Amino acid sequence: MSPVVDADRAEPFDDREAYTAALDEIRSAAAAYYNGADLVMDDATYDALLARVVATETARPDWKADDSPSGLVAAGVGIVGDVVHSEPMLSLDNVFGEEELRRWAARLDRLLGRPAAGYTVEPKIDGLAIAARYVAGRLVQVATRGDGRAGEDVTAQARRAVGLPEQLAEPVTMEIRGEIFMTDADFARANELRTSHGEPPFAHPRSAAAGTLRAQDRAYDAPLSFLAYAVHGLDAATTGLDGDGAALPHSALMAYVERLGVATTAGSPAGMRRCTTLDEVLAAVAELSARRGELGFGIDGAVIKADHPADRELAGSGTRAPRWGIAYKFPADTRTTTLLRIEVQVGRTGVITPVAVLAPVQVGGVTVTSATLHNFDDLVRRNVRVGDTVFVRRAGDVIPEVTGAKLDERPADSTPYEPPVTCPRCGGEIDRSQKRWRCVQGRACGARESLAYYAARDSMDIEGLGSKIIDLLVGAGLVTDPGDLYALEPSALVTLDRLGEVSARKLVANIQASKTRPLSRVLTGLGVRMTGRSMSRRLARHFGTMEALLAASVADLQQVEGIGPERAVTIAAELVELTPVIEKLAAHGVNMTEPGVVGAASATGGDDADVPTSTALPLRRPDGTPMTVVVTGSVPGLTRTEGNEAVERLGGRSSGSVSKRTDLVVVGEGAGSKAEKAEALGVPVLSAERFADLLAAHTAGDAATVAEILASLAGDPEPAAG
Ligand code: IVH
Repeated sequence: MSPVVDADRAEPFDDREAYTAALDEIRSAAAAYYNGADLVMDDATYDALLARVVATETARPDWKADDSPSGLVAAGVGIVGDVVHSEPMLSLDNVFGEEELRRWAARLDRLLGRPAAGYTVEPKIDGLAIAARYVAGRLVQVATRGDGRAGEDVTAQARRAVGLPEQLAEPVTMEIRGEIFMTDADFARANELRTSHGEPPFAHPRSAAAGTLRAQDRAYDAPLSFLAYAVHGLDAATTGLDGDGAALPHSALMAYVERLGVATTAGSPAGMRRCTTLDEVLAAVAELSARRGELGFGIDGAVIKADHPADRELAGSGTRAPRWGIAYKFPADTRTTTLLRIEVQVGRTGVITPVAVLAPVQVGGVTVTSATLHNFDDLVRRNVRVGDTVFVRRAGDVIPEVTGAKLDERPADSTPYEPPVTCPRCGGEIDRSQKRWRCVQGRACGARESLAYYAARDSMDIEGLGSKIIDLLVGAGLVTDPGDLYALEPSALVTLDRLGEVSARKLVANIQASKTRPLSRVLTGLGVRMTGRSMSRRLARHFGTMEALLAASVADLQQVEGIGPERAVTIAAELVELTPVIEKLAAHGVNMTEPGVVGAASATGGDDADVPTSTALPLRRPDGTPMTVVVTGSVPGLTRTEGNEAVERLGGRSSGSVSKRTDLVVVGEGAGSKAEKAEALGVPVLSAERFADLLAAHTAGDAATVAEILASLAGDPEPAAG
C-alpha cells in the first residue's frame, strides 16, 4: 500500500517505541482495509499517521524497519508498491461464437439447476483493469490488477481519468472495478502531446493507456477515461439504498453507481442490455459488434453476466474466472503487418491524404491491403516509415487505419518519410495551414479528369464535351464538377475561345439530353472509387434508385455480388463524399433511377410510364423508400432468387441478414436463426403463405387483400411459422 503522503509537514515521532507502534497500527488498518473488514481508521488519519512514519524514517534512518509499510518515498508523488486486493481480481473465460456461448449458458443452467434468471450484455473495454477504493465517497486508492492478488498503486495517474470522480454524490464506501482506457480522440491528442515533447508516439490506444497510467513525473498529462463494470465490498450502511445493496442485480447496482457519478459500461455509448433468453443475448452481442466502429473507443468483445446475485452466488467462481460471466470475443480489430508503400491521394475537393499500402492482413475477419494514415503532420510526427511493422486497426464498418509503428522492429536502413511538396495531381501549391492539406486549386484540381470521365462515351456520353472544351470551362471557372455542366447557358459558352454560337447551343443541348441517361451511367460517370462500368450497373440494378443507394448501409452494399467488406466501406465513404454533387445533379433534373428495375420510379417522369410508381407498391415505407425484407426458409412455389425478386417486385429491397433496420422477415419452412433473431429484435414477421397471398393479391390488383395483409403486419405481427 502506498498512498500519496505529505511527509515534509508531518512531525516525526520522538521515540522508537511510538514509531514501531505506528507501524503496527498502519499494518492492521491496511489489513482491515484490504480484507474487506470494517475500517479501523479513516483515510485521513491513516494518511497522517503514515506521513509521520515517513518523516520519522527520514529523520532517523537507523530506526527504519526493513518491512516498513511506507515503501519508498518521493515527495508528492504516488509510490509504487504492492497493493493487495480485497478479493482477487479474476479474469473471464472467452467464447468466440454462438455455439460456445450456448454451451456456457447450458453449463450455467446446470449449475443453477434452473434457467438463469436473466443476463446482462455489456461491452468488453479494451483497456486495463483497475480497482478503485472509495471511502465515505472519496477516492482513496487505485490499483492495477497485477497478478490478480496484488497490483501496482496508480492512484496519482488514475485520479485524472474521466469517469472516475474524486468525490461521489453520496458518502459511500465501496470498491469500484473497471477499465482504464483511452478514447480514439484522446489517443490522437496523447500522441500529439507526446511527440511535441520529443517522445516516441504510442502505437495504439491500449498501450497509450497503459503507458499513461504508469507514467510518473511527466511534463504533460495525457487524457485517460474510465468505465466501471463491477462493485465490490459495498458498505450498505453508507448507501442511501433500501436494504443491502449487494442484493441488487448487477444492472441495478451499476445504475446506482452511475447515479453516484462514476461512468459505467452501461452508461457509455455502448450501453448495457438486460436479456431474458439466450436469443436476446445473441441479438445484443450482434448489435454491439455492428456498432463497434461508432463507439469512439476500442472494445474487444461483449461481456455476458448473470444479472442476479443469487445466480452468481450459486454458480460461484473458479480460481481464474467466475462461472457466472463470460467474454464473447470479437475478431481482433488490431493486427500488425508491413507498410509497403505510402501513396498520396487527392480527393475530389482537393484534400491530399497519405494512404498506407500494406502487406495483406486479416483484420476483424477482412483482408486489409490499404489503410488511412490520417494526415501528413500526424505521419511525420509519428515517424511511421516504409518497411515498418505497423499496427492496423479496423473496427466494424470504418476505413482501416494505421495507428502506429513497432519501433523495436524498424529496419536499420529505413528513412523518414518525406511528404509531397506540390500537389501530386496538378503540380500546384499545397495549402498546409490546416491539418488536412489541400491543393490550393480545391475542387478545380482534378476537375478536368473527373469531367472528362463524366462526359465519356461509356459514362454520360456527352458529345462535343472533349478535353479541350473542358480545359476552357475549368480555366474560366465556369465548371468545377459535373453538376455545374447543367447550369451552362450558350451565352456563357460563346465568351470562350473557339466556340461559336451554333456549337455552343449544340453543346448545351447535348448536355441537357444526357439528363435522361440511366442511373448506371450516372454512377459510372461519377467515378466512385472501387467501381467501374459493370459494378455501377450492378449497383443500379440492385438498388433501382439513387435514393435507395444513398440510404444503403455497408451491410446492404455487401448484398451486391462482388462487393466485399473492404469495397463496401470505400463505396459508402465515396457516396458520402459525392452527395453534394449528386444533389446538384438531381436538382438539375438528372435522372436518378434505373429503368426496368421494379420499384425504380422515374425522376424525369412520363417516359417510363410502365414502371409502377412507389405509391402502388406494398413494400414501400410511407416516404416511398423500399422496405428492407429478409426471406428465410422456403416460400411455396418460389426459388430463393424468385423469393427475393418477388420482394423487389413488391417494392422492397431484399437483404440477407436480419438487423434492427430490417422492416420485415418472411418466414418459410425450414427457417432457422434468422426467424429467431427477428423475433428477438421485434422485427415484424410474415409467414411464407401470407407472403405468397400478398404477391398474388398485388399481381391481381386486389387492393383490399393487400391492405388487409399489410394491416395485420402493422398491428400484431403474426407468430413465426414452423
Ligand atoms: S467483468 C470477475 N466486464 O476483461 C471478472 N470485465 O478478460 C470481472 N473487461 O480482467 C470482469 N470490460 O479487465 C468485466 N464489461 C466488463 C469488462 C471486463 C473489460 C476486462 C477486465 C477483465 C478482463 C477479462
